[in-house]
Amino acid sequence: SGLITLDPGFKNTGSTKSAITFLDGEKGILRYRGYNIEDLAEKSNFLEVSYLLIYGELPTQEQYDQFANEITYHTLVHEDIKKILDGFPSVAHPMGVLSSLICSLTAFYPTSLDPNRTDEEIKLSIVRLMAKLPTFAAWAYKNKMGHPANYPDNSLDYCSNFMKMMFALPAEKYEVDPIIAKALDKLLILHADHEQNCSTSTVRIVGSSQASIYASISAGINALWGPLHGGANQSVIEMLEAIKEDGGDTKKYLDKAKDKNDPFRLMGFGHRVYKNFDPRAKIIKKAADDVLGKLGVNDPVLEIAKELEEAALNDQYFVDRKLYPNVDFYSGIIYRALGIPTDMFTVMFALGRLPGWIAQWKEMRENNEPIGRPRQVYTGPNERSYVSMGDR
Ligand code: CMC
Repeated sequence: SGLITLDPGFKNTGSTKSAITFLDGEKGILRYRGYNIEDLAEKSNFLEVSYLLIYGELPTQEQYDQFANEITYHTLVHEDIKKILDGFPSVAHPMGVLSSLICSLTAFYPTSLDPNRTDEEIKLSIVRLMAKLPTFAAWAYKNKMGHPANYPDNSLDYCSNFMKMMFALPAEKYEVDPIIAKALDKLLILHADHEQNCSTSTVRIVGSSQASIYASISAGINALWGPLHGGANQSVIEMLEAIKEDGGDTKKYLDKAKDKNDPFRLMGFGHRVYKNFDPRAKIIKKAADDVLGKLGVNDPVLEIAKELEEAALNDQYFVDRKLYPNVDFYSGIIYRALGIPTDMFTVMFALGRLPGWIAQWKEMRENNEPIGRPRQVYTGPNERSYVSMGDR
Protein backbone atom coordinates (compact mmCIF):
# COMPACT_ATOMS: atom_id res chain seq x y z
CA SER A 1 0.00 0.00 0.00
CA GLY A 2 3.07 2.23 0.26
CA LEU A 3 2.98 2.34 -3.54
CA ILE A 4 -0.45 3.94 -3.77
CA THR A 5 -0.48 7.38 -5.35
CA LEU A 6 -3.18 9.63 -3.96
CA ASP A 7 -4.95 11.81 -6.50
CA PRO A 8 -8.30 13.04 -5.14
CA GLY A 9 -10.61 14.03 -7.96
CA PHE A 10 -8.29 12.16 -10.38
CA LYS A 11 -6.77 15.48 -11.40
CA ASN A 12 -3.71 13.80 -12.92
CA THR A 13 -4.76 10.20 -13.30
CA GLY A 14 -5.66 8.74 -16.67
CA SER A 15 -8.24 5.97 -16.26
CA THR A 16 -8.19 4.67 -19.83
CA LYS A 17 -6.89 4.99 -23.36
CA SER A 18 -9.58 6.31 -25.65
CA ALA A 19 -9.92 6.97 -29.39
CA ILE A 20 -13.15 8.95 -29.16
CA THR A 21 -12.57 12.56 -28.10
CA PHE A 22 -9.44 14.70 -28.23
CA LEU A 23 -9.22 17.68 -25.95
CA ASP A 24 -6.43 20.21 -25.52
CA GLY A 25 -7.25 22.35 -22.52
CA GLU A 26 -4.44 24.84 -23.09
CA LYS A 27 -5.29 25.50 -26.74
CA GLY A 28 -9.05 25.16 -26.37
CA ILE A 29 -9.33 22.33 -28.92
CA LEU A 30 -12.13 19.77 -28.92
CA ARG A 31 -12.43 17.06 -31.56
CA TYR A 32 -14.72 14.06 -31.90
CA ARG A 33 -12.90 11.22 -33.69
CA GLY A 34 -10.52 13.81 -35.16
CA TYR A 35 -13.16 16.27 -36.42
CA ASN A 36 -13.13 19.77 -34.95
CA ILE A 37 -16.17 20.68 -32.89
CA GLU A 38 -16.54 23.96 -34.83
CA ASP A 39 -16.89 22.04 -38.12
CA LEU A 40 -19.31 19.50 -36.72
CA ALA A 41 -21.49 22.17 -35.09
CA GLU A 42 -21.65 24.07 -38.37
CA LYS A 43 -21.97 21.28 -40.94
CA SER A 44 -23.19 18.06 -39.34
CA ASN A 45 -26.31 17.04 -37.47
CA PHE A 46 -26.81 15.32 -34.13
CA LEU A 47 -27.60 11.84 -35.43
CA GLU A 48 -24.61 11.91 -37.78
CA VAL A 49 -22.37 13.01 -34.89
CA SER A 50 -23.87 10.25 -32.74
CA TYR A 51 -23.00 7.67 -35.40
CA LEU A 52 -19.50 9.11 -35.65
CA LEU A 53 -18.93 8.90 -31.90
CA ILE A 54 -20.38 5.42 -31.51
CA TYR A 55 -18.98 3.75 -34.65
CA GLY A 56 -15.83 5.80 -35.24
CA GLU A 57 -16.46 7.11 -38.78
CA LEU A 58 -18.88 9.49 -40.46
CA PRO A 59 -21.67 7.37 -41.95
CA THR A 60 -22.30 6.90 -45.65
CA GLN A 61 -25.78 7.93 -46.79
CA GLU A 62 -26.91 4.32 -46.52
CA GLN A 63 -25.46 3.85 -43.03
CA TYR A 64 -26.99 7.13 -41.92
CA ASP A 65 -30.44 6.26 -43.26
CA GLN A 66 -30.38 2.89 -41.58
CA PHE A 67 -29.24 4.33 -38.24
CA ALA A 68 -31.83 7.13 -38.34
CA ASN A 69 -34.63 4.78 -39.44
CA GLU A 70 -33.92 2.28 -36.70
CA ILE A 71 -33.92 5.01 -34.08
CA THR A 72 -37.18 6.40 -35.41
CA TYR A 73 -38.70 2.92 -35.39
CA HIS A 74 -37.97 2.46 -31.67
CA THR A 75 -39.22 5.79 -30.28
CA LEU A 76 -42.33 4.27 -28.71
CA VAL A 77 -41.94 2.84 -25.21
CA HIS A 78 -43.73 0.03 -23.44
CA GLU A 79 -47.07 1.26 -22.06
CA ASP A 80 -46.24 -0.09 -18.60
CA ILE A 81 -43.44 2.48 -18.34
CA LYS A 82 -46.21 5.08 -18.23
CA LYS A 83 -47.37 3.52 -14.96
CA ILE A 84 -43.91 4.02 -13.48
CA LEU A 85 -44.00 7.60 -14.69
CA ASP A 86 -47.46 8.13 -13.16
CA GLY A 87 -46.08 7.09 -9.77
CA PHE A 88 -43.82 10.13 -9.63
CA PRO A 89 -45.22 13.22 -7.88
CA SER A 90 -45.33 16.34 -10.05
CA VAL A 91 -42.59 17.94 -7.92
CA ALA A 92 -40.14 15.20 -9.00
CA HIS A 93 -37.03 16.62 -10.66
CA PRO A 94 -37.02 15.41 -14.27
CA MET A 95 -33.44 14.14 -13.95
CA GLY A 96 -34.50 11.66 -11.27
CA VAL A 97 -37.44 10.58 -13.41
CA LEU A 98 -35.20 10.21 -16.45
CA SER A 99 -32.59 8.03 -14.77
CA SER A 100 -35.32 5.86 -13.22
CA LEU A 101 -37.09 5.32 -16.54
CA ILE A 102 -33.82 4.50 -18.29
CA CYS A 103 -32.97 2.02 -15.53
CA SER A 104 -36.43 0.48 -15.88
CA LEU A 105 -35.40 -0.64 -19.38
CA THR A 106 -33.36 -3.38 -17.66
CA ALA A 107 -36.72 -4.88 -16.66
CA PHE A 108 -38.30 -4.58 -20.11
CA TYR A 109 -35.21 -5.89 -21.92
CA PRO A 110 -33.67 -8.38 -19.44
CA THR A 111 -31.39 -9.84 -22.12
CA SER A 112 -29.35 -6.65 -21.67
CA LEU A 113 -28.25 -8.06 -18.29
CA ASP A 114 -26.41 -11.02 -19.79
CA PRO A 115 -22.65 -10.41 -19.49
CA ASN A 116 -22.21 -12.46 -22.68
CA ARG A 117 -24.42 -10.06 -24.58
CA THR A 118 -24.06 -10.35 -28.35
CA ASP A 119 -23.09 -7.57 -30.72
CA GLU A 120 -26.63 -7.68 -32.07
CA GLU A 121 -28.04 -7.16 -28.56
CA ILE A 122 -25.69 -4.23 -28.00
CA LYS A 123 -26.62 -2.64 -31.31
CA LEU A 124 -30.29 -2.90 -30.42
CA SER A 125 -29.72 -1.45 -26.93
CA ILE A 126 -27.90 1.50 -28.49
CA VAL A 127 -30.79 2.16 -30.86
CA ARG A 128 -33.33 1.83 -28.05
CA LEU A 129 -31.45 4.29 -25.86
CA MET A 130 -31.13 6.87 -28.64
CA ALA A 131 -34.79 6.38 -29.55
CA LYS A 132 -36.39 6.33 -26.12
CA LEU A 133 -34.44 8.93 -24.14
CA PRO A 134 -36.22 11.86 -25.89
CA THR A 135 -39.59 10.18 -25.24
CA PHE A 136 -38.78 9.76 -21.54
CA ALA A 137 -37.41 13.29 -21.29
CA ALA A 138 -40.55 14.83 -22.78
CA TRP A 139 -42.75 12.61 -20.63
CA ALA A 140 -40.91 13.64 -17.46
CA TYR A 141 -41.84 17.23 -18.32
CA LYS A 142 -45.45 16.36 -19.16
CA ASN A 143 -45.80 14.54 -15.85
CA LYS A 144 -44.59 17.60 -14.03
CA MET A 145 -47.06 19.81 -15.88
CA GLY A 146 -49.98 17.43 -15.34
CA HIS A 147 -50.39 17.23 -19.13
CA PRO A 148 -51.14 14.04 -21.06
CA ALA A 149 -48.02 12.46 -22.53
CA ASN A 150 -47.54 12.89 -26.27
CA TYR A 151 -46.58 9.89 -28.34
CA PRO A 152 -43.65 10.25 -30.73
CA ASP A 153 -44.30 11.49 -34.27
CA ASN A 154 -42.09 9.38 -36.52
CA SER A 155 -42.62 11.65 -39.52
CA LEU A 156 -40.38 14.22 -37.81
CA ASP A 157 -36.62 14.46 -37.37
CA TYR A 158 -35.02 13.74 -33.98
CA CYS A 159 -35.17 17.26 -32.54
CA SER A 160 -38.54 18.25 -34.03
CA ASN A 161 -40.10 15.08 -32.63
CA PHE A 162 -38.71 15.91 -29.21
CA MET A 163 -40.04 19.48 -29.31
CA LYS A 164 -43.47 18.27 -30.38
CA MET A 165 -43.60 15.68 -27.57
CA MET A 166 -42.63 18.46 -25.17
CA PHE A 167 -44.99 21.19 -26.21
CA ALA A 168 -47.93 19.87 -28.22
CA LEU A 169 -51.27 19.87 -26.40
CA PRO A 170 -54.22 17.78 -27.55
CA ALA A 171 -56.48 20.82 -27.88
CA GLU A 172 -54.08 22.92 -29.91
CA LYS A 173 -52.34 22.76 -33.25
CA TYR A 174 -48.58 22.58 -32.90
CA GLU A 175 -45.98 23.22 -35.56
CA VAL A 176 -42.28 22.86 -34.78
CA ASP A 177 -40.36 26.00 -35.67
CA PRO A 178 -37.39 24.85 -37.84
CA ILE A 179 -35.18 27.56 -36.29
CA ILE A 180 -35.82 25.98 -32.90
CA ALA A 181 -35.18 22.44 -34.10
CA LYS A 182 -31.90 23.51 -35.74
CA ALA A 183 -30.75 25.40 -32.63
CA LEU A 184 -31.47 22.39 -30.45
CA ASP A 185 -29.62 20.10 -32.85
CA LYS A 186 -26.52 22.28 -32.59
CA LEU A 187 -26.65 22.33 -28.80
CA LEU A 188 -26.89 18.54 -28.70
CA ILE A 189 -23.81 18.25 -30.96
CA LEU A 190 -21.83 20.51 -28.64
CA HIS A 191 -22.72 18.34 -25.64
CA ALA A 192 -22.25 14.97 -27.34
CA ASP A 193 -18.96 13.91 -25.74
CA HIS A 194 -16.29 15.29 -23.50
CA GLU A 195 -13.91 12.42 -22.70
CA GLN A 196 -13.50 11.24 -19.11
CA ASN A 197 -15.72 13.72 -17.23
CA CYS A 198 -17.62 12.77 -14.07
CA SER A 199 -20.68 11.22 -15.75
CA THR A 200 -18.70 9.46 -18.49
CA SER A 201 -16.28 8.00 -15.96
CA THR A 202 -19.34 6.85 -14.03
CA VAL A 203 -20.79 5.13 -17.10
CA ARG A 204 -17.48 3.37 -17.73
CA ILE A 205 -16.97 2.32 -14.12
CA VAL A 206 -20.50 0.96 -13.74
CA GLY A 207 -20.20 -0.78 -17.10
CA SER A 208 -16.83 -2.24 -16.08
CA SER A 209 -18.65 -4.51 -13.62
CA GLN A 210 -20.51 -5.85 -16.71
CA ALA A 211 -23.76 -4.23 -15.59
CA SER A 212 -26.36 -3.59 -18.30
CA ILE A 213 -25.83 -0.61 -20.60
CA TYR A 214 -29.17 0.78 -19.37
CA ALA A 215 -27.99 0.65 -15.75
CA SER A 216 -24.68 2.25 -16.76
CA ILE A 217 -26.33 5.13 -18.62
CA SER A 218 -28.84 5.61 -15.80
CA ALA A 219 -25.88 6.04 -13.42
CA GLY A 220 -24.34 8.55 -15.84
CA ILE A 221 -27.54 10.60 -15.79
CA ASN A 222 -27.39 10.74 -11.99
CA ALA A 223 -23.76 11.86 -12.06
CA LEU A 224 -24.58 14.56 -14.59
CA TRP A 225 -27.34 15.92 -12.36
CA GLY A 226 -25.04 17.60 -9.81
CA PRO A 227 -24.52 21.38 -9.96
CA LEU A 228 -20.76 21.08 -10.43
CA HIS A 229 -21.35 19.04 -13.60
CA GLY A 230 -24.37 19.18 -15.96
CA GLY A 231 -26.57 20.70 -13.28
CA ALA A 232 -24.54 23.89 -13.70
CA ASN A 233 -26.71 24.98 -16.64
CA GLN A 234 -29.75 25.18 -14.35
CA SER A 235 -27.69 26.91 -11.65
CA VAL A 236 -26.41 29.52 -14.14
CA ILE A 237 -29.89 30.73 -15.05
CA GLU A 238 -30.96 30.69 -11.41
CA MET A 239 -27.90 32.78 -10.60
CA LEU A 240 -28.50 35.24 -13.47
CA GLU A 241 -32.13 35.63 -12.44
CA ALA A 242 -31.13 36.24 -8.84
CA ILE A 243 -28.71 38.95 -10.03
CA LYS A 244 -31.48 40.52 -12.11
CA GLU A 245 -33.93 40.48 -9.20
CA ASP A 246 -31.22 42.00 -7.04
CA GLY A 247 -30.96 45.05 -9.31
CA GLY A 248 -28.39 43.70 -11.78
CA ASP A 249 -25.36 44.37 -9.59
CA THR A 250 -22.85 41.99 -11.22
CA LYS A 251 -19.93 43.31 -9.19
CA LYS A 252 -21.57 42.22 -5.95
CA TYR A 253 -21.79 38.63 -7.22
CA LEU A 254 -18.27 38.71 -8.57
CA ASP A 255 -17.08 39.72 -5.11
CA LYS A 256 -19.13 36.95 -3.52
CA ALA A 257 -17.53 34.41 -5.88
CA LYS A 258 -14.05 35.62 -4.89
CA ASP A 259 -14.77 35.57 -1.17
CA LYS A 260 -13.30 32.35 0.24
CA ASN A 261 -15.66 32.52 3.23
CA ASP A 262 -18.66 32.45 0.91
CA PRO A 263 -19.50 29.10 -0.71
CA PHE A 264 -20.94 30.90 -3.74
CA ARG A 265 -19.17 30.20 -7.03
CA LEU A 266 -19.72 31.87 -10.34
CA MET A 267 -21.76 29.14 -11.99
CA GLY A 268 -20.81 28.41 -15.59
CA PHE A 269 -17.24 29.53 -14.93
CA GLY A 270 -14.13 27.40 -14.65
CA HIS A 271 -13.27 23.99 -15.97
CA ARG A 272 -11.06 21.14 -14.84
CA VAL A 273 -9.40 20.87 -18.24
CA TYR A 274 -9.92 24.09 -20.23
CA LYS A 275 -7.52 26.73 -18.97
CA ASN A 276 -7.76 29.29 -21.81
CA PHE A 277 -11.28 29.03 -23.11
CA ASP A 278 -13.94 26.41 -23.63
CA PRO A 279 -14.45 26.12 -27.42
CA ARG A 280 -18.06 25.06 -26.87
CA ALA A 281 -18.77 28.25 -24.92
CA LYS A 282 -17.51 30.34 -27.85
CA ILE A 283 -19.87 28.63 -30.29
CA ILE A 284 -22.77 28.78 -27.84
CA LYS A 285 -22.33 32.47 -27.09
CA LYS A 286 -22.59 33.25 -30.79
CA ALA A 287 -25.51 30.83 -31.19
CA ALA A 288 -27.32 32.55 -28.30
CA ASP A 289 -27.09 35.88 -30.12
CA ASP A 290 -28.20 34.26 -33.40
CA VAL A 291 -31.11 32.29 -32.00
CA LEU A 292 -32.49 35.08 -29.84
CA GLY A 293 -32.20 37.43 -32.80
CA LYS A 294 -33.95 35.07 -35.20
CA LEU A 295 -36.73 34.30 -32.72
CA GLY A 296 -37.07 37.96 -31.79
CA VAL A 297 -36.54 37.15 -28.11
CA ASN A 298 -35.17 39.88 -25.90
CA ASP A 299 -33.88 38.31 -22.71
CA PRO A 300 -32.46 40.74 -20.14
CA VAL A 301 -30.61 37.83 -18.59
CA LEU A 302 -28.39 37.64 -21.71
CA GLU A 303 -27.19 41.18 -21.05
CA ILE A 304 -26.42 40.32 -17.45
CA ALA A 305 -24.51 37.24 -18.60
CA LYS A 306 -22.40 39.29 -21.00
CA GLU A 307 -21.71 41.92 -18.37
CA LEU A 308 -20.71 39.27 -15.86
CA GLU A 309 -18.42 37.55 -18.37
CA GLU A 310 -16.75 40.83 -19.30
CA ALA A 311 -16.23 41.75 -15.65
CA ALA A 312 -14.85 38.33 -14.72
CA LEU A 313 -12.47 38.19 -17.68
CA ASN A 314 -10.98 41.49 -16.52
CA ASP A 315 -10.74 40.52 -12.87
CA GLN A 316 -7.39 39.39 -11.44
CA TYR A 317 -8.95 36.57 -9.36
CA PHE A 318 -10.43 34.92 -12.46
CA VAL A 319 -7.39 35.67 -14.63
CA ASP A 320 -4.98 34.16 -12.07
CA ARG A 321 -7.02 30.98 -11.78
CA LYS A 322 -7.67 30.76 -15.53
CA LEU A 323 -11.43 30.73 -15.05
CA TYR A 324 -13.43 31.21 -18.26
CA PRO A 325 -17.07 30.71 -19.20
CA ASN A 326 -17.78 27.03 -19.84
CA VAL A 327 -20.39 25.25 -21.97
CA ASP A 328 -23.08 25.82 -19.36
CA PHE A 329 -22.74 29.59 -19.18
CA TYR A 330 -24.76 30.49 -22.29
CA SER A 331 -26.59 27.24 -23.10
CA GLY A 332 -29.40 27.94 -20.62
CA ILE A 333 -30.14 31.24 -22.31
CA ILE A 334 -30.75 29.41 -25.59
CA TYR A 335 -32.84 26.73 -23.89
CA ARG A 336 -34.99 29.47 -22.37
CA ALA A 337 -35.46 31.08 -25.76
CA LEU A 338 -36.61 27.68 -27.08
CA GLY A 339 -39.22 27.55 -24.30
CA ILE A 340 -37.48 24.84 -22.26
CA PRO A 341 -38.12 25.29 -18.52
CA THR A 342 -35.13 25.68 -16.21
CA ASP A 343 -35.37 22.32 -14.46
CA MET A 344 -35.24 20.60 -17.87
CA PHE A 345 -31.87 22.10 -18.81
CA THR A 346 -29.81 19.25 -17.41
CA VAL A 347 -32.13 16.80 -19.14
CA MET A 348 -31.23 18.54 -22.41
CA PHE A 349 -27.56 18.03 -21.55
CA ALA A 350 -28.28 14.32 -21.01
CA LEU A 351 -29.97 14.08 -24.43
CA GLY A 352 -26.84 15.54 -25.98
CA ARG A 353 -24.36 13.47 -23.96
CA LEU A 354 -26.08 10.14 -24.60
CA PRO A 355 -24.10 9.12 -27.74
CA GLY A 356 -20.86 9.96 -25.93
CA TRP A 357 -21.78 7.77 -22.98
CA ILE A 358 -22.76 4.98 -25.37
CA ALA A 359 -19.52 5.28 -27.35
CA GLN A 360 -17.47 5.23 -24.15
CA TRP A 361 -19.33 2.22 -22.75
CA LYS A 362 -18.82 0.38 -26.04
CA GLU A 363 -15.13 1.26 -26.22
CA MET A 364 -14.59 0.16 -22.62
CA ARG A 365 -16.16 -3.17 -23.41
CA GLU A 366 -14.32 -3.67 -26.71
CA ASN A 367 -11.01 -2.94 -24.99
CA ASN A 368 -11.83 -5.61 -22.40
CA GLU A 369 -11.04 -3.15 -19.64
CA PRO A 370 -10.78 -4.53 -16.09
CA ILE A 371 -13.31 -3.64 -13.42
CA GLY A 372 -12.79 -0.08 -12.18
CA ARG A 373 -11.61 -0.25 -8.61
CA PRO A 374 -9.50 2.64 -7.27
CA ARG A 375 -7.36 2.22 -4.16
CA GLN A 376 -7.29 4.37 -1.01
CA VAL A 377 -5.01 5.45 1.80
CA TYR A 378 -6.56 4.33 5.07
CA THR A 379 -6.68 6.99 7.80
CA GLY A 380 -9.00 5.37 10.39
CA PRO A 381 -8.18 3.90 13.83
CA ASN A 382 -5.70 1.06 14.31
CA GLU A 383 -6.91 -2.31 15.57
CA ARG A 384 -9.02 -2.10 18.76
CA SER A 385 -11.10 -4.48 20.85
CA TYR A 386 -14.87 -4.65 20.62
CA VAL A 387 -16.60 -2.98 23.60
CA SER A 388 -20.02 -4.36 24.52
CA MET A 389 -22.86 -1.84 24.48
CA GLY A 390 -23.29 -1.70 28.25
CA ASP A 391 -19.65 -0.68 28.67
CA ARG A 392 -19.63 2.23 26.19
N1 CMC B 1 -16.17 30.73 -9.09
C1 CMC B 1 -15.24 31.16 -8.21
N2 CMC B 1 -14.08 30.53 -7.99
C2 CMC B 1 -13.82 29.42 -8.67
C3 CMC B 1 -14.74 28.91 -9.62
C4 CMC B 1 -15.95 29.61 -9.82
N3 CMC B 1 -16.85 29.16 -10.71
N4 CMC B 1 -14.24 27.78 -10.17
C5 CMC B 1 -13.05 27.59 -9.59
N5 CMC B 1 -12.79 28.57 -8.69
C6 CMC B 1 -11.57 28.74 -7.90
C7 CMC B 1 -11.51 27.78 -6.74
O1 CMC B 1 -12.09 28.35 -5.59
C8 CMC B 1 -10.04 27.57 -6.60
O2 CMC B 1 -9.51 28.70 -5.99
P1 CMC B 1 -8.22 28.57 -4.99
O3 CMC B 1 -7.11 28.06 -5.84
O4 CMC B 1 -8.00 29.96 -4.49
O5 CMC B 1 -8.63 27.62 -3.91
C9 CMC B 1 -9.52 27.57 -8.04
O6 CMC B 1 -10.48 28.40 -8.75
C10 CMC B 1 -9.46 26.21 -8.70
O7 CMC B 1 -10.74 25.59 -8.61
P2 CMC B 1 -11.00 24.06 -8.32
O8 CMC B 1 -12.33 23.91 -7.66
O9 CMC B 1 -9.81 23.48 -7.62
O10 CMC B 1 -11.02 23.49 -9.79
P3 CMC B 1 -11.64 22.12 -10.24
O11 CMC B 1 -10.96 21.73 -11.47
O12 CMC B 1 -11.65 21.14 -9.10
O13 CMC B 1 -13.17 22.47 -10.52
C11 CMC B 1 -15.17 23.15 -11.60
C12 CMC B 1 -13.70 22.70 -11.78
C13 CMC B 1 -15.81 23.21 -12.98
C14 CMC B 1 -15.92 22.12 -10.75
C15 CMC B 1 -15.19 24.54 -10.93
O14 CMC B 1 -14.56 25.48 -11.75
C16 CMC B 1 -16.61 25.00 -10.59
O15 CMC B 1 -17.13 24.66 -9.52
N6 CMC B 1 -17.28 25.79 -11.49
C17 CMC B 1 -18.65 26.17 -11.29
C18 CMC B 1 -19.60 25.06 -11.69
C19 CMC B 1 -19.66 24.85 -13.18
O16 CMC B 1 -19.82 25.79 -13.94
N7 CMC B 1 -19.60 23.57 -13.60
C20 CMC B 1 -19.71 23.21 -15.02
C21 CMC B 1 -18.44 22.62 -15.54
S1 CMC B 1 -18.37 22.50 -17.33
C22 CMC B 1 -19.53 21.39 -17.92
C23 CMC B 1 -19.87 20.25 -17.05
O17 CMC B 1 -19.02 19.49 -16.57
O18 CMC B 1 -21.06 20.07 -16.88
